[in-house]
Amino acid sequence: MKKHIEQLFAATAPGLEGVCAAELTALGMAGVKAVVGGVEFCGALRELYLANLWLRTASRVVVRLGELRCRDFPTLYRKALQLPWGRYVKPGTRLQVRATCRRSRLQHTERIADTLNKAMARTLGVVGAEGEGPKQLLIVSLEDDLCRLSLDSSGELLHRRGYRQDIGAAPLRETLAAGILMLLGWQGERPLFDPMCGSGTFLIEGALLALQRPPGAERRFAFMDWPRYRPGLWRALLLEAGKQEQSCCPVLTGADRDAAVLEAARRNAERAGVLEFLSLQQVELSQQPPPALPPGLVVCNPPYGARLGRGELDDTYRALGRLYAGVLSEWQRAFLCPEPRLAKDTGLPLARLTDLQNGGIRVGLFTVK
Ligand SMILES: C[S@@+](CC[C@H](N)C(=O)[O-])C[C@H]1O[C@@H](n2cnc3c(N)ncnc32)[C@H](O)[C@@H]1O
Repeated sequence: MKKHIEQLFAATAPGLEGVCAAELTALGMAGVKAVVGGVEFCGALRELYLANLWLRTASRVVVRLGELRCRDFPTLYRKALQLPWGRYVKPGTRLQVRATCRRSRLQHTERIADTLNKAMARTLGVVGAEGEGPKQLLIVSLEDDLCRLSLDSSGELLHRRGYRQDIGAAPLRETLAAGILMLLGWQGERPLFDPMCGSGTFLIEGALLALQRPPGAERRFAFMDWPRYRPGLWRALLLEAGKQEQSCCPVLTGADRDAAVLEAARRNAERAGVLEFLSLQQVELSQQPPPALPPGLVVCNPPYGARLGRGELDDTYRALGRLYAGVLSEWQRAFLCPEPRLAKDTGLPLARLTDLQNGGIRVGLFTVK
């Protein structure tokens, strides 16, 4: 079978481009280049499958389908007829088009979607644009009359690993939790502790990272519905991944004051197959005893205030400061926080390592100097 080298793109949340580029380089990808919003790279089907299977920090992986210069709908239609739809889309598929337009003649996103669906259907020999088969996301960006088309290969966003079905309040995305561990240089060689662990995202992602278990092994991807899907190749990659898996993991400790979220963390960890590596305890932040462990990384995502009053919030950050300055003073210490004023309440000497987005809120990743 002829190998098509594709231009690929791993989209990330802001701030995770660098760690995602490092992941792609470690996977041996060619042409890796971090840009705003993600990482460009290239490869054939094998690389596309590998990226979906292994990337811990990307939101989705797309294939660049083409770039069309067009200032009117007939031109868009005519040029879209030339695109290699048949490589990715089965006849009967309905394109779900997500379009953004800037400084372009073509602005009407519904008409853009309709035109592209018609061109695709005609290329695939289907009469009419309505497909009954699987839906396929097509991301269209029109800027200065240049229309860039990218086909999504992931389907559900990659943070949906499949294990997290029980959540507490304001859980972190799995991709963000994994990215923060990587930004902090944690590679599964030292203990990890989250004193406000909620549904356990840092700990479970930490376990998957330490065990070198691929985050995408248990889920489906959009590319599995493509006409060129090679299940044998996918199975071979899973088998290869299984051989690389490590059998041990450092101690991963979580605490929270809420018994219900700890139960959710236990169920999630069990689904992810890592419960045996976690130690979860119901402990109030201010009562946290000294850890009986060599120093490692302590990281947490404290509440930001939506549910707590200002006074309680200030107390929480003060308690966090005492914990980090006291029994954890030998540890590498980090936390996420949207407000510098709140972070200051800890009383700790802080560095703002980088800015990230959590649930649409800009947050700083703070480390203790
Ligand atoms: C934003 S959530 C953390 C979410 C978690 N990172 C996840 O992915 O599910 C904050 C957690 O801190 C816990 N918490 C708040 N104040 C606490 C305190 N004083 N002591 C212990 N846990 C506390 C809450 O119960 C909640 O589970």
